[in-house]
Amino acid sequence: MPKRGRRPRRAARRSPKAAEAATILFINTLAYERRTPVASVDDALKGLQDFFDRTIKTHGADPRGVDWKSPAAQEVRFDQLLKLHTDAAQPFSLVDYGCGYGALVGYLQARGYAFTYTGYDMTPAVIDTARATWGAVPGCTFTTRLDDVPPADYVVGSGLFNMKFAATPVDAWYDHMLATIEIMWGRAQQGLAFNALTAYSDPEYMRADLYYPDPCRLFDHCKRRLSRQVALLHDYGLYDFTLLVRREPA
Ligand SMILES: C[S@@+](CC[C@H](N)C(=O)[O-])C[C@H]1O[C@@H](n2cnc3c(N)ncnc32)[C@H](O)[C@@H]1O
Repeated sequence: MPKRGRRPRRAARRSPKAAEAATILFINTLAYERRTPVASVDDALKGLQDFFDRTIKTHGADPRGVDWKSPAAQEVRFDQLLKLHTDAAQPFSLVDYGCGYGALVGYLQARGYAFTYTGYDMTPAVIDTARATWGAVPGCTFTTRLDDVPPADYVVGSGLFNMKFAATPVDAWYDHMLATIEIMWGRAQQGLAFNALTAYSDPEYMRADLYYPDPCRLFDHCKRRLSRQVALLHDYGLYDFTLLVRREPA
């Protein structure tokens, strides 16, 4: 006897038209994936070097030379990074990871900070421009060699992770981001700060060639893996956030 209150389950039935549509979609997806080349992180980094080589040669030592829309877009990000160290009179050392043409040097000078600075960038033409612009400032050096980057009180990075190219899978770029943060943290004696575009951006303006990580996921990563002293800044009017990570007193 059939049990009361239970109707025998019928296998889901699909009309022949729906089944055909599903098959076509499946075949199209496979064909699309075959046509769309998937780039490795190394390919993306090479592409980024070519891109910044072009922008810096076109615009020179200017925010547009490192693909910022305006001086304000660059400066508001520096304002957030420098929340790591607000006492301008207190000397500190800084590594600027992905320094571009070294605009942060001018920012710090203009505000009377007492600092020594190492600018590191993977794009040789960008570092040439940085040296030509700030190379004579005492205590400032620039390099394309990660091995030459010393430990410093603070390590900061602005705009490092924004561009990934459409063909780079987001998971691979996320792993690249974590690996880079690890390297930065390894040299940060007092603290680390970096920014990224935000996953809370309006979908209609998001671009496949840019990277929009989840700020909460990165906050969680930094909090669990690096330090309990982490601040998430997401209140400065851009589709962008900054994480500040401070070392805990020994
Ligand atoms: C958007 S620009 C910002 C430059 C500078 N931080 C500023 O705000 O003016 C990003 C820079 O990061 C550099 N960059 C990107 N990924 C890097 C990496 N993994 N290692 C070193 N430099 C990197 C690029 O060559 C480029 O000059």
